[in-house]
Amino acid sequence: MARPKITVVGAGNVGASCAAWIAERDLGDVVLLDIPAAKDMPKGKALDLLQVGPISGYNTHLTGTTDYADTANSDICVITAGMPRKPGMSREDLVAINQSIVSDVTKKLVAASPNTILIVVTNPLDTMCYVAYKASGLPKHRVIGQAGVLDSARMRTFLAQATDVAVENVHAAVIGGHGDEMVPLVRYSTIAGIPISNILKPEQVTAIVDRTRKGGGELVNLIGVSAWYAPGAAAGSMVEAILKDKKLIVPCSVYLEGEYGLKDMYFGVYSKLGSKGLENIIEIPLNNDERAMVEKSADLIRETMKALK
Ligand code: NAI
Ligand code: 2OP
Repeated sequence: MARPKITVVGAGNVGASCAAWIAERDLGDVVLLDIPAAKDMPKGKALDLLQVGPISGYNTHLTGTTDYADTANSDICVITAGMPRKPGMSREDLVAINQSIVSDVTKKLVAASPNTILIVVTNPLDTMCYVAYKASGLPKHRVIGQAGVLDSARMRTFLAQATDVAVENVHAAVIGGHGDEMVPLVRYSTIAGIPISNILKPEQVTAIVDRTRKGGGELVNLIGVSAWYAPGAAAGSMVEAILKDKKLIVPCSVYLEGEYGLKDMYFGVYSKLGSKGLENIIEIPLNNDERAMVEKSADLIRETMKALK
């Protein structure tokens, strides 16, 4: 039986980290693609990761390329291609540049792999998912964005630290857009099934919610560029859920058609991932405060989407 084929576009920090995560779990063979100007860089990174195989004990075949022909018939394509925001660049400038990159990459990927499932990582995330969805012509269940797996992992980390328990005991529910207006749902976040408000003081909960919302910025301030280990692992875990038909429920950015009262936009919601990609959207009952947070988060995405050409 043929091994699954996974293409990762953008052999930068997040793309290479995602490829490494996939290889460590031997999920399938990986093609790492970057722009022609990157020359042999994707080949070099793929070779480096291939040489981890004998040490880690995986047989994943990794190749690097700048040619879409090498991506043909990929089961899943992860899009991390894009430019980070640079000093002096407005949000609109970034949207325009990454819109053109994501749209171009998506069309080339789908032409080579018409049956593929796309996982989008490029920022601004929810807006770039919309761009990929429109450019791909694929049904919504095959274009999914990574944000909530990362944002909830950050909140789980902070909750585990605050309560001194294993991360496996911690569930954190983070929906909404990938940005400062994301929606951490305290009522649905638990330690071993116990709501966190029963365990932590209100000020501790507020501090963790705030730190989660600013989680990406905290890392940019520390590293100087945006994070890649957890983002790469988050996208890799979505690849795994799909390839193993796990029916895994995690927050993902998906195309909404009326859920939470939102339409024609990508937004982070609880999603079931299986072999078809997005298999189901789970709508959680929200109180008025939570609904207001969802509205605010959706407004921010709509604002960003206005910069689309
Ligand atoms: P990076 O700069 O290290 O890598 C980006 C790579 O994309 C570069 O190697 C570049 O040559 C390549 N690229 C640019 N245009 C391309 C094209 N047309 N075709 C193929 N490759 C192209 O950036 P990094 O840190 O890997 O971040 C990548 C993206 O992921 C950024 O937009 C970043 O903001 C986003 N990100 C999203 C997260 C999320 O949770 N959704 C988390 C972390 C980063
Ligand atoms: C992150 O959350 C900036 O999206 C990037 O780390």
